Amino acid sequence: MNVAPEMNMKPEDIIRRAYDPERFRQAGHQLVDELADHLAATLPGTELPVLPWQTPEQAYEQVQKLVDQDAETLFSATLLHTIRLHHPHYAGHQITPPAPVAALAGLLSDLVNNGMGVYEVGLLGTAMERYVIKTVAHQFGMNDQADGFLTSGGTLGNLTALLAARRSQSEKDVWQEGDTGEFSVMVSDQAHYCIERAARVMGWGQQGVIPVPCNDRFQLDTSSLERCLHEARESGRTVIAVVGNAGSTATGSFDDLHGIADFCERENLWFHVDGAHGAAVAFSEKHRELVTGIERADSVVLDFHKLLLTPALATALIFREGEKGYQTFAQKAEYLWSDGQSEFWYELARRTFECTKTMYGLKVFALLTEHGTPVLEANIDCVHERARQFAELIAKADDFELLLEPQTNIVCFRYIGQPRDHLAESALNELNQTIRDKLTREGSFYIVQTDWQRTTWLRTTLANALTTPDDLQQLLDRIRTLAKTGAGQ
Ligand SMILES: Cc1ncc(COP(=O)(O)O)c(C=O)c1O
Repeated sequence: MNVAPEMNMKPEDIIRRAYDPERFRQAGHQLVDELADHLAATLPGTELPVLPWQTPEQAYEQVQKLVDQDAETLFSATLLHTIRLHHPHYAGHQITPPAPVAALAGLLSDLVNNGMGVYEVGLLGTAMERYVIKTVAHQFGMNDQADGFLTSGGTLGNLTALLAARRSQSEKDVWQEGDTGEFSVMVSDQAHYCIERAARVMGWGQQGVIPVPCNDRFQLDTSSLERCLHEARESGRTVIAVVGNAGSTATGSFDDLHGIADFCERENLWFHVDGAHGAAVAFSEKHRELVTGIERADSVVLDFHKLLLTPALATALIFREGEKGYQTFAQKAEYLWSDGQSEFWYELARRTFECTKTMYGLKVFALLTEHGTPVLEANIDCVHERARQFAELIAKADDFELLLEPQTNIVCFRYIGQPRDHLAESALNELNQTIRDKLTREGSFYIVQTDWQRTTWLRTTLANALTTPDDLQQLLDRIRTLAKTGAGQ
């Protein structure tokens, strides 16, 4: 039913119609039914495609045709043409298939539209956010001094953490006086590009990031830290922080957090952990050891929308000494009680980059209420186990090559053909790129790719806990078929 305004309708009546509770009830019930059907059809993986590929031009053409339709037609078309994260053949970018209860919380948040910037327009959502932050800090092994907030993605979380680092480490008041671009952070060459972007946003230019080499497992080589720091200082840079990866974007590698923490303590540097992807393992008894040392970080970013069943976006930024989070944007230290705790934990915009934001806390809190932390642990354990099994399958196949044993749910590999094929490196790169394109266009599997030292690797993030070893065997078989039936043509 299209409810576009009729001729000569009064503005108030147009608005009243837009708010009509009965219309909402009807369209809402139908949408929830369709979403439930979508889940039921997608979860078993028997229906393809996982990605109904169309060109951007085709998509735009279709959207133009939808503009005069009603909401029901629009929602059905959107569902028909969406990538399906709940499909067991989804193994692409690092986005989690959300638990339905968290998506329902998103709908609730969108309708009541709490602004969250100040307590009066956040109320329960503000308190939920605090609960979520305290829960995460506890999982990291931090004490009650730890505090933080939820923010709009790992990119903004990392920028905010580095702003706090600059405020804390700088001898002058950079908030009042600005800086002259002399600061730098040290980070491995495997860091997500948002770290470099943050440094450039702060006006530090290319020198704002001092790249530290990695070992052959793509982990920051802690033995190079001293040399890199020395060279940076020699060239006039003021290094304020080291950023550790937990884990890295391309390969999911975890840096030695204790090693970096020792170095930062010795050199009086801020220690930030980009745990957007992997800090989630703190919720798993089995995999927590990957982030030992995280409790010593000054700040940590964790994305709930990567491994923890929460719709995008929901990012936690935690400060080990919670009060440091209040300094970032503050004029004076008027916000602290004598015991170092802030009086204003419930006035979120004092600490966040955003003014208005959605009720991120509600989505995570809904998950915790309905399923508890065991659902987070179960998800982490399943996807890690699946990655281990996939790596095992690849290692056993002599026509595939594994880049490295996975530490998390990210597995990088490539098709190399039989030894007798003797394909040149450039031909192999082209073949793997073409295979990936074909998989995407036929919609049988969704995987991505990464380039490392002029070699193209197929990259899978096993985001779906219900992907089975059989699905993964099917992926390898499909790649073989595409390779042999002329994916390169
Ligand atoms: C390690 C790491 N940090 C930060 C980000 C950026 O996070 P977001 O996409 O939530 O901004 C990513 C995204 O893939 C990542 O892998």
